[in-house]
Amino acid sequence: MSVEGRIVENQDEKKCTERLMVAPLLDWYAENARRLPWREDPKPYYVWVSEIMLQQTRVEAVKGYFARFIEELPDIAALAEAEEERLLKLWEGLGYYSRVRSLKAAACVVMEKYGGRLPRRKEELLCLPGIGAYTAGAIASIAYGQVAAAVDGNVLRVMARLLGDASDVGKESVRRDLARRLEDVMPKEFPGAFNQALMELGATVCLPNGKPLCAQCPVRDLCVACREGTWENLPVKAKKKPRRIEEHTVLLVETGDGFLVRKRPARGLLAGMWEYPAVCGKKGEEEVRKLFGLKDDAAGTVLPLGEAKHVFSHIEWHMQGYYVRMRELSPSFAKICFENAEFYDIIVDGFPAGCIPVGWERLRADYSIPSAFEAYRKAMEKLLASREKAQTVRGLERNG
Ligand code: ADE
Repeated sequence: MSVEGRIVENQDEKKCTERLMVAPLLDWYAENARRLPWREDPKPYYVWVSEIMLQQTRVEAVKGYFARFIEELPDIAALAEAEEERLLKLWEGLGYYSRVRSLKAAACVVMEKYGGRLPRRKEELLCLPGIGAYTAGAIASIAYGQVAAAVDGNVLRVMARLLGDASDVGKESVRRDLARRLEDVMPKEFPGAFNQALMELGATVCLPNGKPLCAQCPVRDLCVACREGTWENLPVKAKKKPRRIEEHTVLLVETGDGFLVRKRPARGLLAGMWEYPAVCGKKGEEEVRKLFGLKDDAAGTVLPLGEAKHVFSHIEWHMQGYYVRMRELSPSFAKICFENAEFYDIIVDGFPAGCIPVGWERLRADYSIPSAFEAYRKAMEKLLASREKAQTVRGLERNG
């Protein structure tokens, strides 16, 4: 048979499998769907918020964030009016903070242009900030019952294995082609259930790392990867460039007025987020004392908080942390901050390079510090707890 003939035959086989998978998939979903708040009541706003949160985050981790977000911002009007700092606090730990900024920007457009109702049509949804093909398809199908595919990483993996398809799933053309084919076979009465069934199968059965749970799969009899034992090699993803590694020394600096924090630049990585000040490279304890001009123990304390690593999509931060306590900001520390001033050029209350002192409790309650710094937040909590304990004991000894 000619190559062309084989391709046509292969297309027919794909189509046949795609049609045959629909009924068992829907039956399985009816029995096995996890009960999730945004599924119990699939209002467009709930579906939208949950789908944005679920990008790059697992369902279990999202549940608590979703509940807090909806409790505080129950509708699109409330979201449109929310303060950015408050939104970042509600998003703290979910990462990819531009998502929540886009959410608010889109809510403002929906208020102005659509009277507070999220539009139904995929084309209109696609024009809103932060809504791409996947999210538009998810909202249109789950909240409005329209025939629209929602192809995420889970769906790409399930379909690549089911069809034995070795196309590079990193390519937009592959995602688009799959979306078109799924829209062809999607049942008109249940587009939302169909899309969620595929996602759910990917999240709970056709697992990405390690062996998929083929014995529990409703479409295993149709699955090429299951039959041929090729699940380990599917889906195919072209190798990405290795991540750039950056080394930083993170400084939790306590002055008389609180801990120093600064706002990152409005563009780029963790844009506009608060952070503990940091300098480039991994410094030793003595170097940190020198940075702050601390000649002896009486001038100030420096304690190592250990190493930590945080992985972003394109960069890895390898960090060394220190707790630094001093009564007032020394001129040499001011100089360090000024050296970075082209990046952190805000000066507030006389503190250089955007650093302001904030009490630890306020920092916890009102400022969102990205999870890249979580190891140091935890280390600091520990240190503060042991300090408080020591102070209590000293107080008791004095009084007793
Ligand atoms: N991941 C993203 N959206 C999802 C959904 N609606 N159901 C299951 N997993 C998902």
